[in-house]
Amino acid sequence: MLNIAVKAARQAGDIINFAARDLDQLKIQTKTFNDFVSEVDQAAEKAIIDTLKYAYPDHGFLGEETGDTNETAENIWIIDPLDGTTNFLHSYPCYCVSIALQQKGKLTQAVIYDPVRNDLFTATKGRGAFLNDKRIRVGKRTKLQDSLISTGFPFRDFSYLDTYMAMLRDMISNTVGIRRPGSAALDLAYVAAGWSDGFFELNLSSWDIAAGGLIVQEAGGIVGDFEGEEHWLKSGNIVAANPKVFAQMIQLLQPHLKGIPKRG
Ligand code: IPD
Ligand code: CA
Ligand code: CA
Repeated sequence: MLNIAVKAARQAGDIINFAARDLDQLKIQTKTFNDFVSEVDQAAEKAIIDTLKYAYPDHGFLGEETGDTNETAENIWIIDPLDGTTNFLHSYPCYCVSIALQQKGKLTQAVIYDPVRNDLFTATKGRGAFLNDKRIRVGKRTKLQDSLISTGFPFRDFSYLDTYMAMLRDMISNTVGIRRPGSAALDLAYVAAGWSDGFFELNLSSWDIAAGGLIVQEAGGIVGDFEGEEHWLKSGNIVAANPKVFAQMIQLLQPHLKGIPKRG
């Protein structure tokens, strides 16, 4: 199953790389305020679903651009064909393809493919996480004070901006540095590889975090919502880090919980 998902992710990556050569040609639509979709997102998602459907005709699909099909299926592929669309549209080289498989409600397979660097992050439940066939583990830092943390700023819904800014303020003054790369899936993959020590963001969708969440867990990290519980995939509020840093992030975010968006 992972091999088929990797094949689908690489096909999507080829479509993205080809389009990146001439961005002026692209047709872009605005979904909602500050939320864009291009022909590339749609073509990449179609390629992924065609490949997966050919191999697994009974499976369900939850794709960012096409929505739900066969919602009651035991096996559901959760797909973000291009995570980091705004980066892609600006030629800012930080975006990826994200594909996860959920079986009877549990994440079991994950692929994140960065077509710019040709980095392939994968995980299978219970079998560890890999970058280009090399085993990866979350970072070893034990203190938040020494940690490099990535995040995503609110950019569509500003109703919780003040709460977020208060969290960010606390993070800035209690870490070595903060990054806002612009692709939640890659942010999680980087936590898994130990390239950053933790990640937090609010109000994400399941396709942004399903694959990355499993990859972090299989790399020995903890993934939770802002209360440290397991509802991150449904709520879209996510914290991920190695176990020591995770606990310190949750503690630091605790005083701000009242103002966060609730879903799921
Ligand atoms: C977005 C990216 C971004 C995050 C947004 C997501 P998209 O995904 O992951 O980093 O901050 O919340 O929506 O729209 O580029 O697929
Ligand atoms: Ca996304
Ligand atoms: Ca997307």
